[in-house]
Amino acid sequence: MADEAFVTLTTNDSYAKGALVLGSSLKQHRTTRRLAVLTTPQVSDCMRKALETVFDEVLVVDVLDSGDSAHLTLMKRPELGVTLTKLHCWSLTQYSKCVFMDADTLVLANIDDLFEREELSAAPDPGWPDCFNSGVFVYRPSMETYGQLLRMAAEQGSFDGGDQGLLNTFFSSWATADIRKHLPFIYNLSSISMYSYLPAFKAFGANAKVVHFLGQIKPWNYTYDPKTKSVRGEPQDPAVSHPAFLGLWWDTFTTGALPQLQELGLVGAAPSALTLEGVSGAMSHLSLGESPTTAQPFVSSEERKERWEQGQADYMGADSFDNIKRKLDTYLQ
Ligand code: UDP
Ligand code: GLC
Ligand code: MN
Repeated sequence: MADEAFVTLTTNDSYAKGALVLGSSLKQHRTTRRLAVLTTPQVSDCMRKALETVFDEVLVVDVLDSGDSAHLTLMKRPELGVTLTKLHCWSLTQYSKCVFMDADTLVLANIDDLFEREELSAAPDPGWPDCFNSGVFVYRPSMETYGQLLRMAAEQGSFDGGDQGLLNTFFSSWATADIRKHLPFIYNLSSISMYSYLPAFKAFGANAKVVHFLGQIKPWNYTYDPKTKSVRGEPQDPAVSHPAFLGLWWDTFTTGALPQLQELGLVGAAPSALTLEGVSGAMSHLSLGESPTTAQPFVSSEERKERWEQGQADYMGADSFDNIKRKLDTYLQ
């Protein structure tokens, strides 16, 4: 099994918190595969040390950026050009097969059975199910494929400005050729689906193996009170009333990543002082519970409608199921 690995990516200290939690969750569920993380030079030394406590391999790669502002603006995610850095994962030829996972995914069960699948296996994207979502995929490292992907990126660009558009163009037969390459949705359950098809979520959600915090606001953008085990936000913030997976992410952080960080001396070792202030204070150099730099909590209803129509629902915030239900209830009354 030493030649198979789970691989993730972080280009900064923020996504590194996600990578730490993902790695911890894979270990908690007793994976027998190696854990590798691609980092870029922007990741701090302190965070790199933290990653080394969880991952077998912490690699440094160059940033690849599409700089494709037109497509990225269409997607309302100007920061995603750097996701082309993900392509480096094909260069990890020390492994014969890998599963790439976004740093904003969390594993809820052992998923080593994914290594029985072939390149390129992935789950449908909830926004356009004829495309696969590139947050979780099975692939075979190969310098040849790596070169072809880079060439395609340079010559054609990506229809979404990020890796997902490019990979869907490259592996264009995914939608039709081989059903075994369609991973069940429970291997990449995006939290957005909870309310876009709530009955299905109620029927099948309990089987979820991987949850993907797809979208602009990530779990580490919230603050967490370890005493009450609750995610805190503004009193009116509907995300706080939708906390199941969010709470699990933070729980994994405090049980799986925090002890190692404390052992390393990166965080003060005083569990009794782990109040909200204690956590954010002691870990200020890891800037826990930061507010999202790109999130815009107050958007006009026009802009919200536009985002919604482009599939950019703020599922953790204004467009949460609870908010939608409240709105529907007022109509019904
Ligand atoms: N990523 C990164 N730095 C960034 C943006 C993205 O390292 O500034 C990596 C990270 O692994 C992340 C993945 O690229 O999980 C894809 O981005 P994201 O998860 O934000 O996209 P989404 O799934 O929300 O569309
Ligand atoms: C998607 C995927 C993410 C990818 C991004 C850019 O929404 O979830 O993994 O990096 O698009 O293409
Ligand atoms: Mn993601």
